[in-house]
Amino acid sequence: MAKTIGNYFDELRGTRVWRSVFRGGTGSSTLRRSLAIQQNVFLHLFSTKVRRRMVGLSATWYLGTLTFGTFLILVVTGILLMLYYHPSVPQAYADMKDLQFVVSSGLFLRNLHRWSAHAMVFLVFAHMFKVFYRGAYRPPREFNWVIGIILLLVTLFLSYTGYLLPWDQLAFWAITVGSNIASAVPLFGNKIHFLMLGGNLVNANALLRFYVLHCMILPLTAILFIAIHFWRIRKDGGLYAQQSEPKTLAARAAGSAAAKGAQ
Ligand code: HEM
Repeated sequence: MAKTIGNYFDELRGTRVWRSVFRGGTGSSTLRRSLAIQQNVFLHLFSTKVRRRMVGLSATWYLGTLTFGTFLILVVTGILLMLYYHPSVPQAYADMKDLQFVVSSGLFLRNLHRWSAHAMVFLVFAHMFKVFYRGAYRPPREFNWVIGIILLLVTLFLSYTGYLLPWDQLAFWAITVGSNIASAVPLFGNKIHFLMLGGNLVNANALLRFYVLHCMILPLTAILFIAIHFWRIRKDGGLYAQQSEPKTLAARAAGSAAAKGAQ
């Protein structure tokens, strides 16, 4: 009898090499499936069990997942853009023009990065509103809400720092306006302005600072907090199920009836 692809996978899972990497193995029992999640460094951030209703579209509209999807696209396209871009005043603008007119698929790459950035900002707000209107920010999920606020700020800073990198008129004046707004902060305004730009003007120092922030510091911060965000969903008992669900209400009513009976 001809072997199916599934058979080959089963054989692969049985090999010593596979077993040395994935200790839990796989299988149809609940225990095996739980072990497969718990013993994988990436998967263990996620819940081992989910309520069927919570994986439906109507529960979250997948807005958090879509935000994460745009973030992944941004990481991949951003790394590819780094291959063509130099963060130096004489070169930056020319590199953007080369990407547009010389590099094969460069325009597509640049636009994919830019549109994904816009989409991520839109989605992160939409996700936040959806979480708010479902009441999913309430205890025990309040800490994850705070982590979410950090992610929102990181997303906005990522957009802002990326804005300067093309070094065109729009970028230059947008960052001039933005940094002047920052200098209006009471007491520390001038210090923040100086720290942001690496001086008093938008020049080569500012470009380098924004580049390092945009390509290293902020993406790594985002990855760290996204990992904590996912892990907290697991620790908070999975995604929030609305209290008005008929099953939850029925269980509550049964619970209080039993408590009354015991009195
Ligand atoms: C980079 C930004 C973010 C990413 C990638 C992200 C990702 C996710 C994902 C995948 C989920 C689970 C499923 C879903 O809701 O779609 C989730 C849930 C959650 N997120 Fe976010 N999120 C981000 C930003 C935020 C923000 C800005 C807030 C609020 C200020 C927030 C608060 C929450 C909360 C409280 C939950 C749990 C919701 C529940 O239990 O139903 N997140 N997030």
